[in-house]
Amino acid sequence: MSKFLKINRKINSFKKTIYVEGDKSLSIRWVLISSLSKKKSIAFNLLKSEDVMSAINCIKTLGSKVKFTKNKCEIVGNGLYFNNKKRLVLNAGNSGTLGRLILGLLINSKKKIKLVGDKSLSNRDFSRVTVPLKKFGAKFKGYKNLPLEMRGIDNPKPIKYLEKKGSAQCKTTIMLAALKSNGLTTIKAKKSRDHTELMFKYLKIPIQVKRNNKKYDQIKIYGIKKISPLNYKIPGDISSCSFFIVLTLLSENSDLLIRNINVNPTRIGVVKILKMMGGSIKFLNIRSYKGEKISDIHIKSSKNLKGINCPIKYNSSAIDEFLVIFLVAAKSKGVSYFKDLSELNHKESPRLKWASKILNLMGIKNVTTKSSIKIFGNPNLNLEKKISIKNFSKDHRIFMMSVVAALTFGGQWKINDQDSIKTSFPRFLEILKKIEQ
Ligand code: S3P
Repeated sequence: MSKFLKINRKINSFKKTIYVEGDKSLSIRWVLISSLSKKKSIAFNLLKSEDVMSAINCIKTLGSKVKFTKNKCEIVGNGLYFNNKKRLVLNAGNSGTLGRLILGLLINSKKKIKLVGDKSLSNRDFSRVTVPLKKFGAKFKGYKNLPLEMRGIDNPKPIKYLEKKGSAQCKTTIMLAALKSNGLTTIKAKKSRDHTELMFKYLKIPIQVKRNNKKYDQIKIYGIKKISPLNYKIPGDISSCSFFIVLTLLSENSDLLIRNINVNPTRIGVVKILKMMGGSIKFLNIRSYKGEKISDIHIKSSKNLKGINCPIKYNSSAIDEFLVIFLVAAKSKGVSYFKDLSELNHKESPRLKWASKILNLMGIKNVTTKSSIKIFGNPNLNLEKKISIKNFSKDHRIFMMSVVAALTFGGQWKINDQDSIKTSFPRFLEILKKIEQ
């Protein structure tokens, strides 16, 4: 039976300083990129979650050596041109990022490799990466969902590709395959998080990034023969942070300082949107680290939150944070409108549908389509009823959103699948306890 959490009370006011765990996007990228170097790479504060452990298990299966102690992880990879002699099976668990990116690494695998994942991942769209990988020369059995089988090619042909979804996973998969190709790959990509570009630049991989017009970037990348090791101190994850940002905004007389967070401009849509809604959020002590921006974040309870027509330019940089943003809309004066968000239904669960269901259970009127949601806020909402959240495909972000809703709107909540947090933020409830003490 799945573990559930019961919450029957609102959170008391608090004034605390916390850290959250390492950034998931950076952690998975670090593991995969380090597996391409024959020299030792070291990371501190690597996220120790199921998604990252799945990445580690995959590269181990591919031949890398990994030592992961408390706060330090060391990887010695087997170079760019691995030579698997037998058919292998890789398990990406629940992770879309891992499942997609690893296929880019396999572009030159000589034997068939089978990729499997859990139930939620098996239903997600893989054609967004198998289509460009076929252009490089890969062959697939199954191409849309998992399980699928891939056979790489000795000399992948560099490609030109137009990435229209704003998917960093698709862009990165192509960039990884491009490293192993002979020549110049050009990607025109709708804007999305740019951690891979920054890591490649830091590693002195021949890459040019042009921030063309407002919507698309152009990336040119040459194949290489070897790659340097990558030492990295992983900063905290803004996506994990966002649950505590919203918890603070919606609580009475509270104040929270969250230290050492990655505030890469392609990731901070959540802060921009919440500030537009009247949230008190400040970046303090901004610094740079290997091309990334790091900051402490100071949040204060905010009254007089207001509904907004959310500009679509923030969609990609807030894509993982909309569920908690919708809770702020629920507490705001007026109507909020979020649009062009069909990608939200392609995550670990169909998140727009789930947001609508949860808001309905809370008594918040909303009008939801396949790609948009209109939320009619109610600043005076104080729940007293019972609410049960279950069957949400074990989507970690649905679980954490529900916890924040319970602690800020009241009511008697029973939230299933507590273990879902292990995929991205295993210490979520432990940190919450610290805030509450
Ligand atoms: C991620 C990219 C985003 C995001 C996911 C992590 C990444 O997905 O939702 O949680 O690390 O590249 P898409 O690239 O599919 O939008």
